[in-house]
Amino acid sequence: MSDVSLAPASRFCFVGRVPGDKSITHRAYLLAMRAEGETRIDGALRARDTDATLGLCQALGATVRADGDRIVITGQGQVQEPSAPLDCMNAGTLMRLASGMLAGAGVLAVLSGDESLNARPMGRVVQPLRSLGARIEGRDGGRFAPLAVLPARLTGARVPLPLPSAQVKSSLLLAALDADGETALTELAKTRDHTERLLPYFGAKLHIGSGEIRLSGGQRLRSPGHLRVPGDSSHAAFLLAAAALAQNGEAEILDLGLNPGRTGFLDVLRKMGAEVEVTVLAQDPEPVGTVRLRAAPLHGVTLGEGEVPALIDELPVLAALALCAEGRTEVRGAAELRVKETDRISALRAMAHAVGGSFEELPDGFVIEGSGGRLRGGAVESFGDHRIAMAAAVLSLRSREPVEILGAESVAVSFPEFFEIFRAAGGGAA
Ligand code: S3P
Repeated sequence: MSDVSLAPASRFCFVGRVPGDKSITHRAYLLAMRAEGETRIDGALRARDTDATLGLCQALGATVRADGDRIVITGQGQVQEPSAPLDCMNAGTLMRLASGMLAGAGVLAVLSGDESLNARPMGRVVQPLRSLGARIEGRDGGRFAPLAVLPARLTGARVPLPLPSAQVKSSLLLAALDADGETALTELAKTRDHTERLLPYFGAKLHIGSGEIRLSGGQRLRSPGHLRVPGDSSHAAFLLAAAALAQNGEAEILDLGLNPGRTGFLDVLRKMGAEVEVTVLAQDPEPVGTVRLRAAPLHGVTLGEGEVPALIDELPVLAALALCAEGRTEVRGAAELRVKETDRISALRAMAHAVGGSFEELPDGFVIEGSGGRLRGGAVESFGDHRIAMAAAVLSLRSREPVEILGAESVAVSFPEFFEIFRAAGGGAA
């Protein structure tokens, strides 16, 4: 699969589960590796990014048994020095979290990734980790990978987080476990709190105040025995969007992760006019439940900085919705999109223009005048970015001609079954 062509479809109906949450899977693997004992993880995401994390766990001394989405990791309660560079592939979350986990582990480790990952900013973790005493070197003074993490003794400190990023926050929390004394992180804005929810499961104590998280170093992690990963709300977003755009569209997604730091897209779907019903069925360690959606005519929305962290990964698919909706959509305060797997703002401009839609690029977002009907269709370049490829697929629900996705294999990074599920739900059918 390198290019995929999807014919327009008028019906899209998905009922079922989506693969496991990517953010939670990365964290569950890393914590299980660092903890003492055996952890069984059910519902884990099996995709290129998270399999890179499994490989890293093995390279750091954990025993890993994998049977589909059931993964059993036996950790030693410490990290073993890796004998070769660690390959993070395309996974930014892995590289940033692993930098923190290795910073005070007393080992020498080199972290590298693919061309896209080695061009993404790492100074955002390297600088604050250095303020705890970490010795991390990298290209351009530590701004880019490959990164070399050298053995160092960390000392807890008060660290203002430089940007609203869950990856940066999590990296520092993992480093703080190995520091002498207490680390206090001050947050600029709330971001997904999967690490804070999982750490106590592994026996760690942390204090969460308003805008501040405190954690004392020297805590041992113990396996909780078993963990279940809920469905990924970012995966679900593509199926919900397709259902929202179809003339005859419906979706019901079960066992879905509903962490408040991740559900901004559901609010936006409602604001745009879709009928969305959310039922939370469990709370611990993560809120999990069912989301039902029924298609209705969509109109544009305006989003600013405050709303961005809870839907940062959904902005590509939101752009797809906006291109088909009635009226104007404006997104600002989302400059982070420029340093994702690709520069997503310029990739979205290319996508919009390729299918005959309007798109004005802003330094920190975009303005889209919705077509209010059908787009022409055409060939969309994924730029090797899984979320651009999946956003383009969603456009086929509202195109006159097929949408061809160039570099469609990039979906393997997070959602290898995407096209199979998309077609089974009615997408791509003439
Ligand atoms: C993630 C946090 C977000 C998100 C990424 C996954 C995480 O990145 O975009 O896909 O698992 O912590 P930032 O922390 O850079 O905002």
